[in-house]
Amino acid sequence: MAVELYNKNGHICLAFYDLVDEENDHAVQSNQFLIADHGHGALVDPGGNMTYNSLLISMQRYFPSKDLDYILASHADPDTIASVNKWFVVSHCKVMISSLWTRFVPHFTTGRDVTGRIIGIPDKGMRLPLGESQIWAVPAHFMHAEGNFHFYDPIAKILFTGDLGASLLPHSEASKPVTDFDDHVRHMIGFHRRYIVSNKVCRLWAAMVRKLDIQMIVPQHGCRFEGKDMVTRFINWVECLSCGIDLVTEDTFRLP
Ligand SMILES: [Fe+2]
Ligand SMILES: [Fe+2]
Repeated sequence: MAVELYNKNGHICLAFYDLVDEENDHAVQSNQFLIADHGHGALVDPGGNMTYNSLLISMQRYFPSKDLDYILASHADPDTIASVNKWFVVSHCKVMISSLWTRFVPHFTTGRDVTGRIIGIPDKGMRLPLGESQIWAVPAHFMHAEGNFHFYDPIAKILFTGDLGASLLPHSEASKPVTDFDDHVRHMIGFHRRYIVSNKVCRLWAAMVRKLDIQMIVPQHGCRFEGKDMVTRFINWVECLSCGIDLVTEDTFRLP
């Protein structure tokens, strides 16, 4: 079932938390998002082939899939856009992704007629028109992919952070907002230590996003952070995170 993150004056943000088959414990729970504004729509990290059918069906009552303008990809992992070929077939959408990944995305497709439909976001990011609104592609490089973007919706004041903020939880838990931040850390810490590259980028990211008016931080896996207090706690936590190459030692590079 879709969770309405925002729905006011012709602008809507929806989150889908339960489209990955929960019986399949080999596949990580993941969230998919729809942003629609005055007859225009974008999917954020729609996922792979496992979520395609259910997302296609679930989104229709809010927005007709054939009218999709964009797929916004935070990065190029399979759980973000492996289904891109199917979306290309059922809509006229374009994929917006870091310019580092544009030549890799065709490997998710049949390779036919994709020229002109995969658009590179420059490293500095960009503001993308969507209906009467704009979506900002905000730099988040190395958090976790080399070319990585978060998507900010200035109307809903939501920052979609891809794998940053990911927590590994069952569906029933993932669809609820975080209520106890300290307790929630145990669901995030292992993932962030390994999948986010370094504290240097965490600090730079924190300084940048503090300039945004954010009501909600919504990751691609697990629970969202709602309200200014929770958003601030999360940003502060990220800023102080030791991760990735900060934690690498000689021990990491022993021959097997
Ligand atoms: Fe990823
Ligand atoms: Fe992911």
